[in-house]
Amino acid sequence: MNRPTAAGITHEEEERSSRLIDAFRATVGRPARCLVRAPGRVNLLGEHTDYNGLPVLPMAIDRSVMIALAPREDRTILLSNASADFPRRTYPLSDAIPPYAGGDWGNYSKAAAQGLASHCGAQLQHGADLLVDGNIPSGAGLSSSSALVVANALAVLAANEVDVPYETLAEWLPAAERYVGTLSGGMDQATSLLAQAGHALRIDFFPLRVRTVPLPAGYSIIVCHSLVQAEKSGAAKQAYNLRVIECRLACRVLERLLGTGLPRSLNTLGDLAALFPHRPLLDFLPYLTAQLPERPQSLSEIAALIGTSPERLREECGAVGNAFALLPRTRHVLSEAGRVEQAERALRDGDALAFGQLMDASHGSCRDDYEISCPELEELIRIAKEAGAVGARLTGAGFGGCTVNLVAEPEVPGFLTRIDRYFYRSRLDHSERVGHYRFIFKPRAGAAVYRL
Ligand code: GLA
Repeated sequence: MNRPTAAGITHEEEERSSRLIDAFRATVGRPARCLVRAPGRVNLLGEHTDYNGLPVLPMAIDRSVMIALAPREDRTILLSNASADFPRRTYPLSDAIPPYAGGDWGNYSKAAAQGLASHCGAQLQHGADLLVDGNIPSGAGLSSSSALVVANALAVLAANEVDVPYETLAEWLPAAERYVGTLSGGMDQATSLLAQAGHALRIDFFPLRVRTVPLPAGYSIIVCHSLVQAEKSGAAKQAYNLRVIECRLACRVLERLLGTGLPRSLNTLGDLAALFPHRPLLDFLPYLTAQLPERPQSLSEIAALIGTSPERLREECGAVGNAFALLPRTRHVLSEAGRVEQAERALRDGDALAFGQLMDASHGSCRDDYEISCPELEELIRIAKEAGAVGARLTGAGFGGCTVNLVAEPEVPGFLTRIDRYFYRSRLDHSERVGHYRFIFKPRAGAAVYRL
């Protein structure tokens, strides 16, 4: 049988895929016909900007979800996992699939299947036997869930021999993934699908546009887990969704304050950039500072400012809870978008130090204005800066998960020693390997399907 040996696949991935193909035959009882690989990602800059229609700067990593698959004659998806932690799941492929209970791993597969069925309809006549193997740490802010969605989508398409351009999938799958209840943007799926080896990506949204950005020579990207799990389908979901709602409310307030100066309503804060391409985004902040306090406000206070009812606003913005910190949230989003612009220029100029300063500034803004850090992330950042990181920040949704650090290559051994000594030593017991929690990542290519 042919084994994936395509250009760009690492030796470790080759071994992993061989094991998976063998396991498929042993568990399913027939040979796999295709193998899919979808990588996770680390976001270098541009946090919580994607759902606001503003740019991000991530790269794909050499951790991925792989699926070995064979089509079925019926429309059933039979989903198994190489790890015993994830129970087997079976469901029919359709455009209206009832979800499992919240937090069930099978929901990510269902999200992909339902999303594709709603777009491709009768083209998808075959279900599939799927055997999944993932090595992206979950709840780490490295996009294990979106990689699972992307891999499942590619598997269902491969089983049906239907081709959908990756750019199109990158537009479809963020909406499909909202099946699990998180109001995420499109960064993770776009990176997993469209990344190019050796490069970061600058991604713009609505419409999706992607271009490669070089990374500075002589520096390593080191990712360190805070050991605080931030599961997308768990506790972090509510905190994440609240940020999305605060941004929607900020749009309503800005519409009111800009009045007739605004040619049309704002779907996202990023619409300001589209409507006023020559004005720096931070020019719009004083409208809010003049009217809003730093502290969170109730829905009634915000509604009174806009001249609407709290009920109407709750319905329009999907608001849950009753404390919304619009001013600091907007300050983060608008300033972060500016940092992405500057960071792209710094990277194109090969200016690692300028890029590192922007990472540090982004972290401060994530911590103080977006309030998505936690004590463990703060400790990791402090140690990283003392250990010589040129830039250090939390990455992904926040509320736990990982930090990403830019470290000059000669400093890497000393950096790792200090992180291990001052962060991990007291937290991990002897049987645990620190290598499971901190990683040096090289930018990898996006997803691929291998016919066997
Ligand atoms: C999660 C979401 C992304 C993005 C990041 C924060 O990873 O899935 O869409 O919003 O958080 O930048």
